Amino acid sequence: MVDLTTTLAGMRLRNPVMTASGCAANGKELHRFFDVSALGAFVTKTVMPTPRSGRGTPRMAETPSGMLNSIGLQGPGIDAFADEDLPWLAGVGASVLVSVAGGSAVEFAQVATRLTRSPAFGSVVGLEVNISCPNVANRGLVFAIDPLASAKVVSLVREATPAGIPVLAKLSPDVTDLVAVASACLTAGADGLTMINTTLGMAIDVERMRPHLAGITGGLSGPAIRPVAVRAIWQVRGAMIAGRIPTAPIIGVGGVASGRDALELIAAGASAVQVGTATFHDPLAPARVLEELEALLDELGYATVAAAVGAAHPDGSGR
Ligand SMILES: Cc1cc2nc3c(=O)[nH]c(=O)nc-3n(C[C@H](O)[C@H](O)[C@H](O)COP(=O)(O)O)c2cc1C
Repeated sequence: MVDLTTTLAGMRLRNPVMTASGCAANGKELHRFFDVSALGAFVTKTVMPTPRSGRGTPRMAETPSGMLNSIGLQGPGIDAFADEDLPWLAGVGASVLVSVAGGSAVEFAQVATRLTRSPAFGSVVGLEVNISCPNVANRGLVFAIDPLASAKVVSLVREATPAGIPVLAKLSPDVTDLVAVASACLTAGADGLTMINTTLGMAIDVERMRPHLAGITGGLSGPAIRPVAVRAIWQVRGAMIAGRIPTAPIIGVGGVASGRDALELIAAGASAVQVGTATFHDPLAPARVLEELEALLDELGYATVAAAVGAAHPDGSGR
């Protein structure tokens, strides 16, 4: 038996496996396949201040070892989420990591404030700040490309969130210096980081000679981006180990479809992992990844999952 309990930025979780934002809606569909309260945490679809219908179709395109999506943050808005979706998740006993966003730093904080007034706020174990969201004041470029804009969002959400509820910044890999963005978010008060969001891609339908997606470009996810996630986690964890940026826990996400994939992200420095795209073709994927991870840790002789975090770094425990 491997001890899978995970303490992360003050969150005490049953185990280190979570859903990834936007890949399991708000839990009801997945709960038909397995008990979502068995996961370390359920990560919600990003919640915005008001209802949004999202982009036009087609919104998805298959790519080698992955997929492109251009959803446009469709959702019911924070009021419906706080009054209906969150109470449902609380009712099944899930530990909920709520993904929040807005078109301005102030809007992000408004979503956080409204969330705290939900009757089900007790089920919330943390907030994940989706800074890969267009900044209305900066030509719609995402906050995540700019360390200053990212820091402002994080500090306002941190102020709006009760002490004891961790705030994690979810980073985009589409930057030249990821460590600089990580550093800005941590200095602004982020209690941890989630990495990575999708990486920008595009596909063209040569029969029609038109872009595949109505939104033209889209976010690439799935196994194709796992090496990018491993690299990102490695670089940021490395900067923490070297004392170049504040130390904080990392949640890894990107192309995890098996326990072995999850362990790769953990060995690079992630304390927990999220399963996204794999859920679309196998709704049991998060539960299966958890089982496989436990079996693999056992086989490799780990008594706890915590002992494997960052183990591949030169000063990690190695093997
Ligand atoms: C269809 C789809 C919708 C997504 N929606 C969100 C979202 O609302 N908020 C967010 O932070 N990330 C969103 N993501 C990104 C995932 O949470 C995750 O970071 C990314 O897909 C990489 O993990 P994966 O390869 O396991 O899917 C979405 C991804 C997909 C494929």
